[in-house]
Amino acid sequence: MKAITVKLGKVGVEIKDIELKQIKNKIKVRTISTGICGTDREIVYNELNFVKPEEGDYLILGHEALGIIEESIENSIFKEGDLVVPMVRRPGNCKLCKIGRQDYCLDGNFIEAGIRGKNGFMCEYFYEDEKYLVKINKSIQEYAVLVEPLKNVMKIVEVFNFLKNRVSWECDDSTYSCKGAWIFGTGPEGILISLVFKSLGLITTIVNRHPLPTNILDFLDINGIEFFNSSSDDWSKKLKDYPMDVAIDAAGTTEIFNQIIENINNNGIIILFGTKGSGSIEKGEFITKIVDKNLSIAGSEDGSKLHYIQASNYLENYAPKQNIKNLITGIYKPEDIWILKEKPKDEIKSIIKWS
Ligand code: BGC
Ligand code: ZN
Repeated sequence: MKAITVKLGKVGVEIKDIELKQIKNKIKVRTISTGICGTDREIVYNELNFVKPEEGDYLILGHEALGIIEESIENSIFKEGDLVVPMVRRPGNCKLCKIGRQDYCLDGNFIEAGIRGKNGFMCEYFYEDEKYLVKINKSIQEYAVLVEPLKNVMKIVEVFNFLKNRVSWECDDSTYSCKGAWIFGTGPEGILISLVFKSLGLITTIVNRHPLPTNILDFLDINGIEFFNSSSDDWSKKLKDYPMDVAIDAAGTTEIFNQIIENINNNGIIILFGTKGSGSIEKGEFITKIVDKNLSIAGSEDGSKLHYIQASNYLENYAPKQNIKNLITGIYKPEDIWILKEKPKDEIKSIIKWS
């Protein structure tokens, strides 16, 4: 079968012919589509130091996938023809991994498909333990490949709900209509976060330090999400109508962290998701602000099986209302491996169609 692979420690990507052995008690899944994300391109450019093969010196890429069950096993809840999304992260041996919360792994001994220690899904078929498959309703087939990146957002909402509960945080009428969410970063993850916070009823603003292509601006506009260009627009003017009570970073630069601490309201919640951090935080002054403003700061990575299910439910409910199919800006063939190296200018989510 065709598989998109990287060689460990080398820049580049290739399409290889690989046959997988049938594995006992595992379900055979035929890949329908796989999504491409920043992590995949970072792996191709050999920029991540935690990438590990499953065996040999290559890794099959891909952690965002939708597949169809081709051969099930006895007594399984899955039947041939069912649509499924495979989970990325698999548990290690710590206490939290044992209760399905490998997203909060204590010792880092988990594995991740297409990233560390396990082949991914950019291939024509794969064998999978049924524990790590999430059933998908046929009605969302067209964009179910977004369940994986969206599960990260569902975990962010869980973190948000937890942090806001330390004090009365809702508006006078019990809603969030007076509260604002600012999302930093306009990649697919940033856009998904802003859609979900908009659906929770917050005034939602998405930020980049560069202008955006018109297809992205139009998409945000029809969803009632405000765009803010942090290098050319006026901060204090914007903050009057678009308050910052929760700030979520999906970009990861320290410059952003500084801007958030400065501009967020008292009792604000900061959730950091972007991992590309570099540069330094101007510590002393910021510690005083974090304390004076009673801020909560949390990091959030990955998500549990429950978050995949919530993501799939979210798509069932909101995809038609929020035009989510327009997030898929390009559909490519497995042979188009250049797409793993180059990001088209108007890309939100590029996907590869396998069958
Ligand atoms: C995936 C997460 C994963 C993270 C780090 C992200 O792209 O969505 O599930 O934990 O990469 O490897
Ligand atoms: Zn990803």
